[in-house]
Amino acid sequence: MPSTKQAAPEKPLRGSLMSVRSLVELRSVSLDQLSDVRHVSALAYRAYAGPLLAEDQVDALVELVRSPEYSEQILAANSVGAWIDGHLCGIAGWSPAGNAGAGAKLIGVCVDPLFGRLGIGRRLVAATEMRARRAGFTQLTARVPANAAPFFERVGYLGSSQGVWITPAGVSVPVFHMRKGVSKPTRQADQHHTLPVPSIDEADTTRVH
Ligand SMILES: CC(C)(COP(=O)(O)OP(=O)(O)OC[C@H]1O[C@@H](n2cnc3c(N)ncnc32)[C@H](O)[C@@H]1OP(=O)(O)O)[C@@H](O)C(=O)NCCC(=O)NCCS
Repeated sequence: MPSTKQAAPEKPLRGSLMSVRSLVELRSVSLDQLSDVRHVSALAYRAYAGPLLAEDQVDALVELVRSPEYSEQILAANSVGAWIDGHLCGIAGWSPAGNAGAGAKLIGVCVDPLFGRLGIGRRLVAATEMRARRAGFTQLTARVPANAAPFFERVGYLGSSQGVWITPAGVSVPVFHMRKGVSKPTRQADQHHTLPVPSIDEADTTRVH
């Protein structure tokens, strides 16, 4: 007798993304999470930049994220991490651009490829932008390899120019300079922010450098 069991209908993708969203926890990155940060960043550059860059360029990016200087930069960059069930799956940070103006630069935006295209990068950038805005910075920039330019465009950045960045190991990497203007926060604007509101831990404090 044929089984009367029917295959369960596939859940719509939107529903799945909603469930992933509810599992993601955003909080500040601390010293003892740096090895995970380096691991995720290296995975991200290999997977996403690998197909577009030469091998020595990808190696130089990975060498950079494994350097002590990168770890120091991540800690100084008010970095936010995204965790799912205790697993670090993405990072993003920011720091003042250094021109004493309203400019800040995004740093180290990386998502573990296993968790790519689930909206985690977008949430990390939104959380990072919010921290920079709260510290008074309204002009955000990012220097990104070609693989990441379409992502930054999707989250509201404009490409301002292309160039070459020389890594600390002396390797030239082609980059896009992206920028975005954000409004100064008001209590009301933050409450009615149109981007997904990141669940930053309340203990977090953003420092102005
Ligand atoms: C860039 C990166 C952080 C994106 O992370 P992600 O979690 O996969 O991105 P999201 O899922 O949040 O994507 C947000 C939007 O960008 C789009 N997007 C992401 N990557 C894209 C790509 N390579 N090409 C086109 N669109 C892309 C998504 O489709 C999504 O669009 P939607 O909201 O309209 O559906 C990730 O690819 C990465 O780690 N890259 C390597 C590291 C790197 O180069 N970082 C930049 C240096 S600072």
